[in-house]
Amino acid sequence: MSYEDKIDRNRIPTHIAIIMDGNGRWAKEHGLERAEGHSRGTKRAWSIVEDAVNLGVRYITLYAFSTENWKRPPKEVKVLMNLVLSNLEEKIFMDNNTRLRMIGDLNRIPLIVRNRIKKCMKTTENNTRAEVVIALSYSSRWEIARAARLLAEDVRNGILNPDDIDEEKFASKLNASFMPDPDLIIRTGGEIRLSNFLMWQASYSELYFTDVYWPDFDKEELCKAIYSFQNRERRFGLTSAQVTGADNQK
Ligand code: IPE
Ligand code: IPE
Ligand code: MG
Repeated sequence: MSYEDKIDRNRIPTHIAIIMDGNGRWAKEHGLERAEGHSRGTKRAWSIVEDAVNLGVRYITLYAFSTENWKRPPKEVKVLMNLVLSNLEEKIFMDNNTRLRMIGDLNRIPLIVRNRIKKCMKTTENNTRAEVVIALSYSSRWEIARAARLLAEDVRNGILNPDDIDEEKFASKLNASFMPDPDLIIRTGGEIRLSNFLMWQASYSELYFTDVYWPDFDKEELCKAIYSFQNRERRFGLTSAQVTGADNQK
């Protein structure tokens, strides 16, 4: 029986976030340039978004380019930016009734790419089926430091009392404040780390790691991750009895 048949359609995670890793190693194993791996990886991303949305996922976040990735060879950075430019087409979002959102430091993105992104976000802003969040020039530390700066500015401007800063207030200043925390974070490519991805939001996310390189990650792999998610007990600090309601009679 395939994982697609095994998963419970009534318990699909609301928000899946994916660290799409392994494009370079995939290319090397196939005797191809890294650029080809990134190109295949981009195609995979659109396909997985479609599969996830069809399964009922409401938010899908894709880690496409980290703050640290700016330090890669300029040629590779250019390839990645050009892929964003040539693949962000409104039509895909309009056909799926999905909305494009971005997290990350867009000021660092080349103007032509940034304009494409802005246009695509504007055109799709009323789409309601799901939100596709692309993390580009993103890192958690950048996001958290920025939130601290915004809070400090509010204090300086006299509109915020430092005593009122709590988790909720802090979270409201995060770049990703519009989205719920991810229920499931998937990382492809075999590494067991977060690499500066959604570190605030991942506090109670279920983590799923697979050796499959991103260009090989297909619908069945996605369903396998969802199946793993569905077989875990999310306790959020409570006891198992509290979570299952076994304590209710007492
Ligand atoms: C992920 O693939 C894409 C980006 C980080 C932009 P990599 O390019 O990191 O692939 P590997 O890890 O070298 O295989
Ligand atoms: C994480 O992958 C970032 C993205 C997938 C965009 P990296 O390949 O940059 O992560 P490290 O360097 O192996 O931790
Ligand atoms: Mg990598």
